[in-house]
Amino acid sequence: MKILSVVGARPQFVKLAPIAAEINRRSSLQHVIVHTGQHYDQNMSQAFFDGFGIPAPDFNLEVGSGTHGVQTGAMLARLDSVYAVSRPDVVLVYGDTNSTIAGALSAVKLGIPVVHLEAGLRSFNRHMPEEINRVATDHISDLLLAPTETAMSNLRTEGLDGKSKLVGDVMTDVCLQVRDAVSKKEPKFRNDSYQPYILATIHRAENTDDPVRLKSIVGALQSLEKPVYLVAHPRLTSRAREFGITLEGGAIVTRQPFDYQELISTVMGAEGVVTDSGGLQKEAYLLETPCTTVRSETEWLETLEDGWNVLCDKPSELDEIVNRDRPEFPRGTAFGDGNASAAVIDEIVGMRG
Ligand code: UD1
Repeated sequence: MKILSVVGARPQFVKLAPIAAEINRRSSLQHVIVHTGQHYDQNMSQAFFDGFGIPAPDFNLEVGSGTHGVQTGAMLARLDSVYAVSRPDVVLVYGDTNSTIAGALSAVKLGIPVVHLEAGLRSFNRHMPEEINRVATDHISDLLLAPTETAMSNLRTEGLDGKSKLVGDVMTDVCLQVRDAVSKKEPKFRNDSYQPYILATIHRAENTDDPVRLKSIVGALQSLEKPVYLVAHPRLTSRAREFGITLEGGAIVTRQPFDYQELISTVMGAEGVVTDSGGLQKEAYLLETPCTTVRSETEWLETLEDGWNVLCDKPSELDEIVNRDRPEFPRGTAFGDGNASAAVIDEIVGMRG
């Protein structure tokens, strides 16, 4: 069986890592990797392939950045011929980016079965481009692999349960493996300064693309008491420059995007995480570091239990929420035990039966 994975953005490389390893373990399977080129900077792309030992992509569509239509359209235009040349039995798409919807739409039009990994997540906020990508991908895919019971319940509500399976969360597989590998090392910034610190990332369009909102988020981070290591996604850097907002200042020290191992180590050493990333909310939870999410909703409802993750839509409330007491109860186990990738591949192989 030939499985073709379409990836393009940083979180998809993380999800691809355990899937590529699992496919490689099974001699009856062939894996073709297509990189759309949505993310292309060394530290947003190649660093992840190197860090995880993922085989080099068989195809790179090199679409680069652009408006949603331009970027997604360029992927669609180039995927037809890639699918025609590689003739996969199944196309596997990951998460909720423009690369996800393009990979799925192109395959479905050619009659190739599509599997959506990380299906069923919903923010119920149609202003988020990711929400449109998720909903559309779930509705056109043939097999939906859900990470949690909540995701399964969302799929049921939309009448999609007939093609849905609960497999667990592959990001948990990666996160726990890397945690075990780095746990013996001294956390990077704790080592530098021996001071408690906050790790922050902000990159969602709804936070970066409105100058008033971005300015108030940056101001709130700068006003925190503890040092804030702000790991700056290129979207944040470019929007801040465009709006004349200086990121450095007050508590903020900026950093270039980390590779995954460095990120996990830094989360483990942090007093708290402030983010609008879906993946980082969950990683903080898995690593038992309290998280504050700068959004009005989250797709990962389970992280909110017992206060491990708290939503903060108003920047004026950031200080109070970040400085809340540490949760008393241990985190839950809704994201599985780190063995989701094997279940994913079992389900894909089972499509043939
Ligand atoms: C995309 C995903 C988002 C995901 C995020 C992870 C969509 C709609 N959004 O958002 O769901 O959480 O990836 O990072 O697909 N840029 C660079 N170098 C790069 C990549 C991007 O400089 O390697 C800059 C460009 O200015 C670009 C901007 O970042 O215009 C945004 O990149 P884009 O891929 O459009 O969206 P993300 O914000 O990264």
